[in-house]
Amino acid sequence: MQTALVIGNWKMNGTLAEARPLATAIRDGLKRPRGVEVVLCPPFTALAAVSEIVKDSAIRLGAQNCHFEASGAHTGEVSPPMLAELGCRYVLLGHSERRRECGETDELINHKVKAAVAHGLTFVLCVGETGEERRQGLTFPTIEGQLRAGLAGVPVESIVKGVIAYEPVWAIGTGVNATSAQAAEVHGYIRGLLSELTSKETAHAIPILYGGSVKADNVEELVAAPEIDGALVGGASLNAAGFIALAKKAGRAGATSRGD
Ligand code: 13P
Repeated sequence: MQTALVIGNWKMNGTLAEARPLATAIRDGLKRPRGVEVVLCPPFTALAAVSEIVKDSAIRLGAQNCHFEASGAHTGEVSPPMLAELGCRYVLLGHSERRRECGETDELINHKVKAAVAHGLTFVLCVGETGEERRQGLTFPTIEGQLRAGLAGVPVESIVKGVIAYEPVWAIGTGVNATSAQAAEVHGYIRGLLSELTSKETAHAIPILYGGSVKADNVEELVAAPEIDGALVGGASLNAAGFIALAKKAGRAGATSRGD
């Protein structure tokens, strides 16, 4: 049985004074989550503290970015082994905010994906079209380019251990989520590409998450839709009660869509 995957991306939110109570409340509210794996991605500065809080719990830890080298002269950067040492299992890569604000290219993101794999981290490769690209009918070519370039040269056995997140840029932080039909269409397309890159049999095991204005109110409909295996949640992951409700609903909706 495949469980739903819900990742909370705190983005640049969470001083230690805020992160500690938030992580503690989420941990205590999700002691035995049914049908869902929950991952928290706090900012780098809160990773050690959150790691301590969620260790020996059902909650997993992830980072929001990493460098592609293990160490060296890269001022201000954080490497995959540093994250692994802190207990991170996941790392978000290619988030649209990093593509836009930090100029991250598909080529750079590809280096990071390979580095994550080399150091035993599960990559969460984020792809998604802008509103303008969607209006111009460029959604599929945009997604295809980002996915193929991001996974270029990554061995099949590593691709199948990764996670893909579809995050339409126009839905991030806007309160306007993609409809379940819009998301399912793109997820189906991504599944097809993953089948080409791996095989039909293995591609179905790769979680494809939807991200963009996911809330407790809409998560069930999204996760119940075909090919949507979970959610990458920004703003709604910063409120403990709301995020706990969201994760529980995702677990139930995933079970319904799988028919178990
Ligand atoms: P929001 O949930 O705030 O729209 O953010 C989505 C996102 O970018 C998660 O990575």
